[in-house]
Amino acid sequence: MNVLKAPFVQGFIRMADDGWQQGWHERNGGNLSYRIREEEIQEIRESLHPGEWREIGTEVPGLSGEYFLVTGSGKFFRNASLDPEDALTIVEIDETGTQYRIVWGLVNGGRPTSELPTHLMNHEVKKAASHGRHRVIYHAHPTNIVALTFVLPLDDVTFTRELFEMETECPIVFPAGIGVVPWMIPGGREIAVETSKLMQEHDVAVWAHHGLFCSGEDFDLTFGLMHTVEKAAEILVKVLSMGGKRQTIPGDGLRDVSRAFGVSVPEKYVLEKSKEKAGDSPAF
Ligand code: 13P
Ligand code: ZN
Repeated sequence: MNVLKAPFVQGFIRMADDGWQQGWHERNGGNLSYRIREEEIQEIRESLHPGEWREIGTEVPGLSGEYFLVTGSGKFFRNASLDPEDALTIVEIDETGTQYRIVWGLVNGGRPTSELPTHLMNHEVKKAASHGRHRVIYHAHPTNIVALTFVLPLDDVTFTRELFEMETECPIVFPAGIGVVPWMIPGGREIAVETSKLMQEHDVAVWAHHGLFCSGEDFDLTFGLMHTVEKAAEILVKVLSMGGKRQTIPGDGLRDVSRAFGVSVPEKYVLEKSKEKAGDSPAF
């Protein structure tokens, strides 16, 4: 099968296009990766042409022999649908989990995203934690969640609780809350290690003053997670711009919602806030 006709490639391109249209991918901002199923690789095998092995820059033994569709470094999400063979690539991971090789795409040269270490370390953690169900890792630069990293204390309890209060669906969509990575230099092993540690517990991690990472089972769920977090962040930015909360969902309410929808939310995210009374502003 022609690679571009494969449903997983079309789903990937549609998601990249949706992210571009949301305004989350200025220039080459953001990156996306998908852990390809064995049967999906079989269908396109005759179109794959292995290149040279190269260092990943970290170790992911739990992903040995896996194939990933990823965005190229410096490539624009805008162009994923217009010129996918230039902007995207399929890479294969070697037996040791320390090297990769390009087997398709990047026809005009280049390399996979500079955040490949973070993508792969997150995939390794989420593959194990979800018993193989999670396949998508998505990094974007949504405006409002990044804006909040300049104002909110950089801890998981504050970020999670403030966003939970902004939309009743939030504790149902990301019950395990949001991990927070302090500002770090992107594109290397160090930030990959810190992010993947948080991904053992969460499906979402914010990079302070930079962007957001989400993990999910498929394109729709992962895009929907990014969209929900950013929507809640937008509401919070508006609430703070209007002078702060005058009323909100109480901790007990968040606990009741999660019970009603059968999800388990850690108690630290739904504790009653003693200092929060009507009229207090801001509440965190
Ligand atoms: P890449 O173009 O290398 O994917 O980098 C974009 C980005 O968002 C870095 O964090
Ligand atoms: Zn980025």
